[in-house]
Amino acid sequence: MKALAIDTSCDDSSVAIINFESKEILADIVFSHTRAMRPYGGVVPEIASREHLRSLPRAVESALEHARLKPKDLDWICATHRPGLIGALLVGVSYAKALAYGLGKPLSVINHIEGHLFSPFLDSNRKIPELPWIALVVSGGHTEMFRVGADYSIQELGATLDDAAGEAFDKIGKLLGLEYPAGAQIDRWVRQDASDPDRCRFPLRPAQTPDYSFSFSGLKTAVRTLMAAESFTESDKLALAASAQEAILQSLIVKIDRAKEGFPGHRVVITGGVACNSRLRRLLPDAYFPAPKHCTDNAAMIAMVAALQWHAGRLAIADWNVSAMSR
Ligand code: KG4
Ligand code: ZN
Repeated sequence: MKALAIDTSCDDSSVAIINFESKEILADIVFSHTRAMRPYGGVVPEIASREHLRSLPRAVESALEHARLKPKDLDWICATHRPGLIGALLVGVSYAKALAYGLGKPLSVINHIEGHLFSPFLDSNRKIPELPWIALVVSGGHTEMFRVGADYSIQELGATLDDAAGEAFDKIGKLLGLEYPAGAQIDRWVRQDASDPDRCRFPLRPAQTPDYSFSFSGLKTAVRTLMAAESFTESDKLALAASAQEAILQSLIVKIDRAKEGFPGHRVVITGGVACNSRLRRLLPDAYFPAPKHCTDNAAMIAMVAALQWHAGRLAIADWNVSAMSR
């Protein structure tokens, strides 16, 4: 049983092919559109939709070529249907519907967050952490903490009250004059200067928020205010980037520590683009981080959720038919 999965939730056109029985990933293609977003300093939903329209057919072709398959070899089609940019999702789901209809194969729709949550199952050469988990999905669009039960059940514990952590990296990076997306650049920039004891000298602190919620929008304002001071110079920018990164990461760590206390015996799993951050990985040596290419958006994680649901006998077939009748 071979399934093709599509993810177009944000600005990456991703297609993967999985063997349901073995859970082996046969193709894992990501066409990134960040370059198209760079002049705007962030994702423009309308441009993302147009880029998906242009790239998705090529991404599907590449995936089939990579897996050495023809469309008729596919047994199942899957697509992310939520959450994400509505126009971008519509392109992926419409394409998947047409493909499934044309091939006469079933279509299933998958939740993008579940994709991130179960991405550790993609790391075939590493040991998948045993459930239950405390799982943090931390990306440009999401900062949400979950408990994942031994039966794969998902319970949301808390989420950001405003910006996502990756969004904070990107917006602070923009203020510092970096290109979009700035998270990886800040990570690399700060790492080069890791030996300077004075590097986190700006007084930026994690926001105090209740329970398992997060807040990052105040940091952006604090950075803007510090940069507006007359005494602020070009040479202070690196220290400010380091201080902001530390405040973002400490906000995450405070809540992870709280969850570890609240849920003893749970492994900690961190995924999403910000989980690529090298300092976060160093600060949390006991947490499980998927391989970086599976932390950022990809369709392999969507294919894996479909495979897990198929094994559990609960991969629902989407009904796309329209009808003039009331039942
Ligand atoms: O998961 P992802 O590819 O897309 C979303 O669903 O948003 O995550 C992209 C986000 C961006 O905000 C980017 O700046 C951030 O992840 N990011 C990082 C790093 N690599 C990517 N943030 C901090 N450190 C990194 N190394
Ligand atoms: Zn994502």
